Amino acid sequence: TTVEWEAASYDMGGHDTYMHKEIHEQADAVDRVLRGRIDDRFSTVHLGGLNLDAREARQIRRVKILGCGTSYHAGMIGAQMIEELARIPADAEPASEFRYRNAVVDPDTLYVAVSQSGETYDVLAAVQELKRKGARVFGVVNVVGSAIAREADAGIYVHAGPEVCVVSTKCFTNTTVAFALLALHLGRTRDLSVRDGKRIIEGLRKLPEQITEILQQEEEIKKLAELYAEARSMLFVGRVRGYPVAREASLKLKEVSYIHAEAYPASELKHGPLALIEPALPTVAIVPDDDLLEKNRAALEEIKARSGKILAVAHRHQEKADQTIVVPKNEDELDPILMGIPLQLLAYHTAKALGRDIDKPRNLAKSVTVE
Ligand code: G6P
Repeated sequence: TTVEWEAASYDMGGHDTYMHKEIHEQADAVDRVLRGRIDDRFSTVHLGGLNLDAREARQIRRVKILGCGTSYHAGMIGAQMIEELARIPADAEPASEFRYRNAVVDPDTLYVAVSQSGETYDVLAAVQELKRKGARVFGVVNVVGSAIAREADAGIYVHAGPEVCVVSTKCFTNTTVAFALLALHLGRTRDLSVRDGKRIIEGLRKLPEQITEILQQEEEIKKLAELYAEARSMLFVGRVRGYPVAREASLKLKEVSYIHAEAYPASELKHGPLALIEPALPTVAIVPDDDLLEKNRAALEEIKARSGKILAVAHRHQEKADQTIVVPKNEDELDPILMGIPLQLLAYHTAKALGRDIDKPRNLAKSVTVE
């Protein structure tokens, strides 16, 4: 009835799904994760919940990030930011794999558990096992007071606000921003210059406005989604900073549209996936304007030469691509935060064109709190 419809639309703020609402909340959400944390005087950030003095921060020899699903992908981006800005070796691994492989637990490694809900069992179990072995564990968590937040020694709240849709959008973005803050903070206790600190801070401040700019392209992205919705399968490629973006975009598409999607490092195309390229397998390519631009263009050429269709997400129009979604340029290190956002809209509109149950995809749960 009309009354029910009105009640639902009130909850969703006029959006047809929580996914759509949450995608559109991202500029505000990023504003929240930044609020009160930037220290212009020393070109760094304050993270109140970290409990880490400069001496301890300098003793960290490695960073190991653990999470599942979308949070794992945010962790992959985080690991790259920590390596780039703090020059500490860092990597991300699915928490579910980590906890079953009897990993070597090292006292000089900082372990970081990432979770929107703070309740994912595989992540919680990994944290408990790490703590039992005397490791220092930080949480990067959205839900305040959740199990992982309580179990961790310290951490950063992501402040994305409540996320209802089963698939994560705004929390993913905010988690990558939280990692940028951690990377900047660790960097400034080590060798990151004041100048680079300033540069990153300026970049962070630009994010909310740039997100709004991306979301204004929704109508064009919707048309692209309708164009590609017929595909049975899609390939997502990116290199270094673009690779985790490709991973997350591929996950988002399969979760909500049920189209098979696979992500590959663009550099690995020639070692296998090129065999799949044909007009019926479109490729989404992440092509940032960074030092790898020429390499990425060469990959587009290889796909084109085999009659593959290409949708590029780039900082400027790509000639080799059939279509380009142009996103605003930020600092190289922060570009991954923005480049996935148009692909959230692509996944959403593809799922919509196919009539999927967007907020509750079949077989999936918002948080997996059991073994
Ligand atoms: C489930 C959800 C995913 C989510 C993952 C991790 O699989 O369907 O969207 O990324 O859990 O959840 P977390 O709350 O730990 O980030």
